[in-house]
Amino acid sequence: MPSSPEEKGFGQADPLLRRWAEKVFQPEDEVLREIRERSIREGLPAIAVGNFDGLHLEVLARAAGALKAVEIGTLGGYSGVCLLRGMGPHGVLHTFEFSEKHARVAGESFHKAGVAARAHIHLGPAATTLREIDAEAPFDLVFIDADKVGYPAYLAWAADHLREGGLLLADNAFGFGEIHRESTDPGVVALQKFNQELAGGGRFRATMLPTAEGLAMGVKVR
Ligand SMILES: C[S@@+](CC[C@H](N)C(=O)[O-])C[C@H]1O[C@@H](n2cnc3c(N)ncnc32)[C@H](O)[C@@H]1O
Repeated sequence: MPSSPEEKGFGQADPLLRRWAEKVFQPEDEVLREIRERSIREGLPAIAVGNFDGLHLEVLARAAGALKAVEIGTLGGYSGVCLLRGMGPHGVLHTFEFSEKHARVAGESFHKAGVAARAHIHLGPAATTLREIDAEAPFDLVFIDADKVGYPAYLAWAADHLREGGLLLADNAFGFGEIHRESTDPGVVALQKFNQELAGGGRFRATMLPTAEGLAMGVKVR
């Protein structure tokens, strides 16, 4: 049996491992594949979460027993469907999207996936529209996947609106491979601030799931 190196990096480089895992865990079914393909056909950018990230979201929502969740960054509804699947038949998702076109495609996705009654799309810049659900707090889960400069503010909102024990998830926490370097890019700088606050700000007990993009995850403790 080969052994692991003493200093371990994040993840494994061999793409065959991923193909093996896809075969065994089947992260993307027909419904999700249709959403990914239709979104691209409709001209949306190909920036939905990866198939395994979608499965992580479903399983994590399920493990957390989430019934009230918030998603910042809807796109075509791919990750929203994953979250709703994880929450089961009584789970409700508020999802926030800036673009009218993306919201329209997502609406169709929620309909096709049979979850439209439980998916509420809020249109406009999340920094403003998040206020629309303030009164419905506390939430069980918040997933951040929108403009990167907004991450620190979205984290602050989540810290104030999650229940204690609630789950914070954020995609692209590796800053597209730049998070550990000095940077002047406003998105990377914001993601660095976000990670530092999540890890050391005292409101969450947090870790980094070393997915391709980095899925930051924290449980609200205070
Ligand atoms: C990475 S995509 C989301 C992908 C989606 N979570 C998925 O995996 O299916 C980011 C989305 O956030 C939206 N967005 C960007 N800035 C925003 C803002 N300030 N408020 C709300 N939505 C925003 C974009 O229009 C885009 O649809």
